Amino acid sequence: MTFHELRTGTGTPVVLLHAFPLDHRMWLDVADALEGRTVLAVDLPGSAGSPPDRPEPSVDAAADRLAAQLDAAGVGHAVVAGLSMGGYVALALAERRPDLVAALGLVDTKSTADTDDARANRLRIAAEADEQGTVAPVRPMAQTLLGASTRNARPELQEQVAQWIEEQPPAGVAWSQRAMAARPDRTDVLAAFAGPAVVVVGAEDTLTPLDQAEHMAAAASAPLVVVPAAGHLSALERPAAVAAALDELVGRTDAGLNAG
Ligand code: MLT
Repeated sequence: MTFHELRTGTGTPVVLLHAFPLDHRMWLDVADALEGRTVLAVDLPGSAGSPPDRPEPSVDAAADRLAAQLDAAGVGHAVVAGLSMGGYVALALAERRPDLVAALGLVDTKSTADTDDARANRLRIAAEADEQGTVAPVRPMAQTLLGASTRNARPELQEQVAQWIEEQPPAGVAWSQRAMAARPDRTDVLAAFAGPAVVVVGAEDTLTPLDQAEHMAAAASAPLVVVPAAGHLSALERPAAVAAALDELVGRTDAGLNAG
């Protein structure tokens, strides 16, 4: 797992966890907008930029790698923000190493497990990626990750996402799908989480839509930010809005820490 220090500043550091099938680059514009903050991002196991010595597929394994990386870097606690798959890893980290998680940013993600159909679909895609040795089974995600407004008005962004998908290792795509298929419902972890949180969702997100965001916001008693004209990749489509939500979360975190 590679650590990228995208920005240095003050306050509790922000750690950004990316979506599938992408890598830390999807967060670069959000990091740019988080002026004055310390911002780190990782390439999760299975993505380009992470060494291919992948353990048994699970988001718990990804969370354990992240914990080891944070420990090695001396980051005692962080505002952990994950988009979609990154959110699954963030919740796993909150369960396994709550000491590291000062606050949770849950962006276009969900705390529930897969349905049986969704799980079967992931395992089929994993098998295809392995057999074909290509990312062809996830190429269509360059469209589905983005909202209709972005697809219509910003073809260059869709091109960028397609390019990033193309650069992911097929065996890593298979690993990540199997890892996500195995994850449990972590709504109880979210409900028990002691720190501040924010839930963010693109208004046009069809993969983890508004009802999933409302479910998390209710469980965490956290504010819900709906980003207009954005789909599942709100952080890429509307980075200023997502950065503002995370900046507000860092502010709340630091106020709590200072008061405590
Ligand atoms: C992602 O954006 O990380 C994926 O859509 C997550 C998923 O497949 O559940």
